[in-house]
Amino acid sequence: MVFTLLPALWPPVSRATAFLLRTPPKPFRSQHLLFRSLLTSASSPSTSPIHRSLVTMASAGIPTRRDLLMLGIETSCDDTAAAVVRGDGEILSQAISSQVLLVKWGGVAPKMAEEAHALAIDQVVQKALDDANVSESDLSAVAVTIGPGLSLCLRVGVHKARKIAKVFGLPIVGVHHMEAHALVSRLVNKDLNYPFLALLISGGHNLLVLAQNLGEYVQLGTTIDDAIGEAYDKAARWLGLDIRKGGGPALEELALEGDPNSINFTVPLRQHKDCNFSYAGLKTQVRLTIESRNLCTDDIPISSATEEDRQLRANIAASFQRIAVLHLEDRCQRAVEWALKMKPSIKNFVVSGGVASNQYVRTRLNHIAEKNGLQLVSPPPSLCTDNGVS
Ligand code: KG4
Ligand code: ZN
Repeated sequence: MVFTLLPALWPPVSRATAFLLRTPPKPFRSQHLLFRSLLTSASSPSTSPIHRSLVTMASAGIPTRRDLLMLGIETSCDDTAAAVVRGDGEILSQAISSQVLLVKWGGVAPKMAEEAHALAIDQVVQKALDDANVSESDLSAVAVTIGPGLSLCLRVGVHKARKIAKVFGLPIVGVHHMEAHALVSRLVNKDLNYPFLALLISGGHNLLVLAQNLGEYVQLGTTIDDAIGEAYDKAARWLGLDIRKGGGPALEELALEGDPNSINFTVPLRQHKDCNFSYAGLKTQVRLTIESRNLCTDDIPISSATEEDRQLRANIAASFQRIAVLHLEDRCQRAVEWALKMKPSIKNFVVSGGVASNQYVRTRLNHIAEKNGLQLVSPPPSLCTDNGVS
């Protein structure tokens, strides 16, 4: 558990995310309670507006104030991000430093990521403050991601937040990373009201959630092995793509050149009539396909591939993407039906998290929303991927 590895926090963290635990979600088809397993040490929630992140406040419909200034810090994985957001939801600045660890190691090595965060954090926070034209003494609070994520990386952000909070006498808001992915939609779409259905798709998580109210979530589905972002990242690496800007974007780009019906990958979990996800099997199918076609993707990057070889890789990328997203569509269609049975007043389907910045994903899920009379709400790509705002 992430939080058991975190140091004791000073000043005491008043966790926006403790709201998740305020009302026990109604049990639903033996699914787990959302986020509860990730929030082992959540303390009792504060009721003071200052102790909630601005996203949370906006979601709560609490009158926000123009003079309230929040610094947000996010270091849960490989991006060091900070932002300054005003009480009325206006984003004053965003700063981000992305690590290229993925390229060399094919994944995020926690110790190296921690060091990279430690090197970048002061500069990133300073840039966010400078771009917003404010200093620490103007702030009302500091919000920081406290999980889920890599504990070594989370520590860096929490340490920085504590330092600023201590020197300037500010409260700290602990932010749950996946809740933030869901609720940032309310910053960009002021008409988004509860209840709504949310699909959260990132490098580490796939979640289908019925958001009934602030802090009242029912988990409809989760991944039983790998998340979709992990599958994109691995497939991109195995295809020899240039993943300096991330595996997902690289694969999405190559897929545009390929035939999505050329390779018959199997859609995961079709026989399971629930809303859970699985991407481990699809990853293996991609690996086996690459091996069976004798593609030397480990030795030959796509930039040096022959035209025929490039076409084959593009076909694999497009076919992988079609099936990966078809799996999302299957589960989302069922989740919409479940959610509408529970809350017939639902009008919106929120899709957020890094993978939601993919255009093909957005288009296909928009069909699902429209087919069911819902409106798709998806933040702009810069707010789908990890950022300091949420
Ligand atoms: O939310 P996020 O920024 O970080 C985590 O919380 O994990 O999501 C990162 C994931 C990575 O796996 C990345 O490859 C994926 O989102 N991603 C994409 C795209 N942009 C980012 N996947 C597919 N297509 C994209 N355009
Ligand atoms: Zn994320």
